[in-house]
Order: sequence, then C-alpha cells, then structure tokens
Amino acid sequence: MARKKFYVTSPIYYPNDIPHIGHAYTTIAADVLARWNKIKGNNVFFLTGTDEHGKKIENAAKKQNKKTKEFVDSLVPKFEDAWKKLNIDYDRFIRTTDSDHKKIVKKILQKVYDKGDIYPGKYEGFYCTGCEAYYTERDLEDGCCPIHKTKIEKLKEESYFFKLSKYQKKLLELYRKNQNFILPESRAREIVNFVKEGLRDLSISRTNFDWGISLPFDSKHVAYVWFDALLNYYSATKEGGKQKFWPADVHLIGRDILRFHAVIWPAMLMSAGIELPKSIFAHGWWTFDKEKISKSRGRVVNVDELISIAGVDSARYFLFRATPFGQDGDFSEKALVERHNNELADKLGNLVSRVSALVEKNGIVKCQNKLLKKLNIKKIEKLFEDYEFDKALNEIFAFIDVCNEYIQAKKPWETKDKKVLYELADSIKAIGILLYPFIPSTSEKIAKQFGFKIDFKEIKKLLKIKKIKKSEILFKKI
Ligand code: MSP
Repeated sequence: MARKKFYVTSPIYYPNDIPHIGHAYTTIAADVLARWNKIKGNNVFFLTGTDEHGKKIENAAKKQNKKTKEFVDSLVPKFEDAWKKLNIDYDRFIRTTDSDHKKIVKKILQKVYDKGDIYPGKYEGFYCTGCEAYYTERDLEDGCCPIHKTKIEKLKEESYFFKLSKYQKKLLELYRKNQNFILPESRAREIVNFVKEGLRDLSISRTNFDWGISLPFDSKHVAYVWFDALLNYYSATKEGGKQKFWPADVHLIGRDILRFHAVIWPAMLMSAGIELPKSIFAHGWWTFDKEKISKSRGRVVNVDELISIAGVDSARYFLFRATPFGQDGDFSEKALVERHNNELADKLGNLVSRVSALVEKNGIVKCQNKLLKKLNIKKIEKLFEDYEFDKALNEIFAFIDVCNEYIQAKKPWETKDKKVLYELADSIKAIGILLYPFIPSTSEKIAKQFGFKIDFKEIKKLLKIKKIKKSEILFKKI
C-alpha cells in the first residue's frame, strides 16, 4: 500500500530579530507532528522558513545601516541554528527571497489578475508596520495599534485590491461544510462571526517602498507582504518532486495570525483555482511570568535561554505538557524545572535507570507483557490526531506511573524475576516510542540501550532480547 502523505507547515518568521519561545513553540509543534507521522510510517514533508519582504524588515535593516538582503542574510542563520539546537527535523527551510518562491508568487498574482479578481485603486487608511496589517478606525485603541499599542500610520497610496469581498459566501460555505478547516472549534466560531460581518477588498500592493516582489502587471508596485508570504506553503511544493504533498494537511500558526490564514489564504487559493489546505490550527500565546512577552521590557525567552534551563528535551516537553495546545500558557523557569525534576527525572529517568540496572544484573526472559494492557494506545493515537498533546503526554505518564508501581509491588531486586523485568523493559520500549515526537534525543538513547527501533508498529511486537546495560542518567535533577 502506498504510504499516506503528510504535509505540515510552521509559519515563516520575520527575520528582524533572533528567534524566541513564541517562534520555537510552533516550530516544535510542527516537529512533534512530523515525527509522529514518521513513526506511523507516513511520508512526511515539514516546511518552515522566513518571511523576508516588507516594510518591517526594510526598517529593521535601515536601523542597522545594512542593505536589506545583507540584513536578512545575517539573521536567517540564527533561525537555522536555533532549529538545529532544538532538534527540529524539517525538510525545507524556505525563504521568501528564494527564486522559486518569487516565481510562483508572480505566477499566482498574474493568474488572479487575469481572472479579474485584482483591480487598481487607492488605499486610504491605517497600517501597522509591526503587524504588517491594515486596520480600520474601529480596530484601533486610542488611535493606536491594538497589538503594538504604538501610534498608527495613516496611508494614502495607489494600490491594487484583491476582491476578497467576492469570496465571503464561499468562505462561509467552506467553514460550514468543513468543520476541521479551522481548529480549535472556538477559533472557528470567531472567524465565522468575523466573515459574517462582511469582508472588505484587500489592498495587496504598496508603492512607497520597494523591498518585495514586484507585481507582474505593474512593476511600480510591490506585493503586500502577506500575499507573498502565504504563498510559501504552496510554492515549496512546486519543485523537487514535492507536488504530491499539496494540499497541506495542516498549517500550524499562532492565534494572532489566524485571519490571514483562515480568510485571506483560502480566498486567494479559490481565486487561483488551487486546492485548499485541509486544516489550520491556531495555538495560544505564551506569557512570561504572567506578563506579555516583550522585548522592550526584557521579557523574552530566546531559544538559547530556553534550552539552557534544563536542556532541549525538557524544554520541548514542558511546552506541550504544561498547557493545552489551543490555549494560552504562562512560561516560568520554576514551572519548567519542576516538571523536569518531578516528571522527567523522577518518573521517566528513574524507571529507565532502575530497570536497566536490574536487567544488567539479572537478565530477562521473553514473555507476554501484561502491563501493556494498561496503556491505551488507541486513545493516544486519537489525542495526537486531535492536537491534544498535553493529554497524550498525560496518558503516557500515567503508564509510566503504572510501571513504577509495578516495580514497587513486584520487588524484582529481591525476587530476581526475569519475566517481570522483561515486561518492564518491553513497556519502556512503548514509552520510548510514544515519547519520541516530544523528546527525540532521549528516546533515541533509550532505544539504543534497550535495542528497539523507533517505529509505532514495534510497540505491539515483543522486545528482542539483547544485552542491556545500566543507563547513564537521562535527566539530571536541578
Ligand atoms: N511572518 C508572519 C507569519 C507569516 S506565515 C505565512 C509572522 N511572523 S512572526 O515572526 O511575527 O511570528 C510568527 C509566529 O510566532 C506566529 O504564529 C505567532 O503567533 C508566534 N508567536 C509570537 N509570539 C508568541 C508568543 N508569545 N506565544 C506564542 N506564539 C507567539 O507573523
């Protein structure tokens, strides 16, 4: 049977500064899903990258007296490096300055223009460069951007418009017929209400700067950065044998950029006659010690800081254990350290080290693993499919508790019962495989030590007997 394909994307990030916990969160989530699908035997394509055009980036470069391309070239490696450190196993890192992407953007612009969905006009209204978004008077708070709280710019310039309003009905129909298009459900309701209120045509080009992709039908204009950026998901599949991956199975994003993805993006694709992605999942936002993450107030957790607290796997684990994926969460060093100590070190680490030490001393004898009945694998699969990562981790850790209780009850250090030890070793195989999406390097260590392959199908096959040695400490307590 042909392998099922699975295409997952993270947003592409603005390379105007180094990556922080917010960027890391979506990227790790995409990595968790990609790895989960890989161990299930699916054919995975995982895309991440950088969103490099627009006024915001141009301004950031100017501030540093750098040419814009030089500026982004100097920041992109910081993202690549951060993802490497976080053990992100992506398949392509797309940059909107890549030539294959630019070519596709022009092609789609032309297509939408030829269809009659783009017309010239004049934009007069508000624009926040920080958000790279248009606002109406009603959106503003005391004349300021509702997100950045800074004074908002008033624009008056020639612009081409995309007939977004034309797609209102079709969008509502899409949301109605396809309940999974926007997830979680509460976010879908927000979007439905927003679209029901009516859509205005969208200004999709700018004329007062030129750092962007010029319109193929009017080179005085550069494409609006979001029109350019959203297309990355599609352009990445156009070359190198990746066509089979379109449409995307899921776009993972933060809740702040849901309107772009759930309204503008499908309308663009409808206009261009391209199949729509299957699903868009908007996750919550992290605060830092209960306050908004803010660079000016020194409340940013950058990736190096995040890793330095308790290591990569503990950071990855914490972000998905502490808070349901769709909801906002609060980051604190204390909470991360507590989970590292109490769950990873005391529960998982102890189980692996006790069992491996006992097996090294006493050996094991193959037998049916009755313990495995206490692991609800079907439920865990469903939780992964529903993006309920915290609950999936809960289930896995409940099973770790079962194993730890089993050792206490059976006392294999007294009985030297090789079958009990086998059951425990075989259970550790299941645990190692299921935790792999979250803590891949720890799982790899466990797999090497106990001699199993990280593959979902292996959970139900009995562990092959090999010499097992006492493990190094997986998680040192802090
Ligand atoms: N370039 C656009 C995305 C284009 S996708 C076609 C963009 N970039 S961004 O760098 O500003 O932010 C990217 C992501 O980081 C968003 O999904 C946003 O939700 C996420 N986060 C930024 N700060 C965050 C938190 N404090 N918490 C969680 N995620 C946050 O938007």
